Amino acid sequence: MDRKVWKLARRPVGDIADGDLELVSEAIPDLAEGQFLLAVIYLSLDPTNRIWMSDMEQYMPPVELGAPMRAGVCGRVVASRKAGVEPGQIMAGLGEWADHIVSDGSFMSPLPQLPGVSLAATYGTLALVGPTAYFGLMDIGQPKPGETLVVSAAAGGVGQIVGQIGKIKGCRVIGIAGGKAKCDYVVNELGFDACIDYKHEDVGAALDRLCPDGIDINFEQVGGPIMVEVLKRMKTFGRVPLCGLISGYNAIDAVEEPGFWTMILMRRLTIRGFIVTDFAPRFGESGAALAGWMLGGQLQTRQDIRPGLENAVATVRELYTGGNFGKLLIQVSDY
Ligand SMILES: NC(=O)c1ccc[n+]([C@@H]2O[C@H](COP(=O)([O-])OP(=O)(O)OC[C@H]3O[C@@H](n4cnc5c(N)ncnc54)[C@H](OP(=O)(O)O)[C@@H]3O)[C@@H](O)[C@H]2O)c1
Repeated sequence: MDRKVWKLARRPVGDIADGDLELVSEAIPDLAEGQFLLAVIYLSLDPTNRIWMSDMEQYMPPVELGAPMRAGVCGRVVASRKAGVEPGQIMAGLGEWADHIVSDGSFMSPLPQLPGVSLAATYGTLALVGPTAYFGLMDIGQPKPGETLVVSAAAGGVGQIVGQIGKIKGCRVIGIAGGKAKCDYVVNELGFDACIDYKHEDVGAALDRLCPDGIDINFEQVGGPIMVEVLKRMKTFGRVPLCGLISGYNAIDAVEEPGFWTMILMRRLTIRGFIVTDFAPRFGESGAALAGWMLGGQLQTRQDIRPGLENAVATVRELYTGGNFGKLLIQVSDY
């Protein structure tokens, strides 16, 4: 039996280009003892895919040229020679841009299924972006009732969850997102207090209007000029969970943001970069909290599901222009 898999043919320069990855068919090897075969249902497309394609300094080894492209996946076990893993089980974890994956179970675990919640919402929320939002906000942001929380990329996978946890914790939540539809969604559907459409508004002026007393927590996801405007308005003892800097991921000659060292000192800010896997030993805690909020109707999430593994390259590019609306997934096969 063959599988289809995307392999990294060359490292992108700037935006991901046609030909940077190649879709190939290859034979699926026989399962060795301790392995299982997963038929991928959802492939998670994430901003970090662009980082993994590069050889910049990063938190995991870059994907090697000629190797399958790394990805978060969710799928159904179709054959198993691994004790405790049965055909039919739904597993989620780290895999490849492929329709079938042979796994030994490393970085894979069973995905709990929540009554009344779709597999896409369960996977899209509990697997990657939910824990990122949860630990970044709860551990680093340390939200307190009455505080002002600003979150950029507010209508995306992580951002939509950050804002809702902020509301659960009693914060005033201001989103920043590209376009009216996304801003309307986070305010009207998710209960954010306000949202700044950075594509049509002056972000600094809007922050002055919406946060006249300053900002306690900046959940930073984009970097660049938006981050600069938010940082300038941080309160003393403010906290900045530094989750992502997507505005720079496709940059050819990346230039670091200017430092704010004097301001960081004078306002005693805490700025901490983090990667969700830092918190892997505590994923049970985030899973229980997120599932509880979902089942209790306090947390809803939007998935942006696109068809076809063959469209993965064209689709992943949309993350860097805001073409996605919610957690971006590829439907590789039916559930
Ligand atoms: N630290 C971690 O462990 C971790 C884990 C997951 C994700 N992340 C980071 O969190 C961020 C969001 O990830 P996600 O998976 O939830 O993706 P996402 O928000 O669903 O999609 C990315 C969004 O970023 C916004 N964006 C893209 N380019 C931009 C630019 N130049 N300026 C402003 N906004 C821009 C777009 O929204 P608009 O339409 O609103 O512009 C786009 O929809 C990324 O920076 C990602 O790297 C970090």
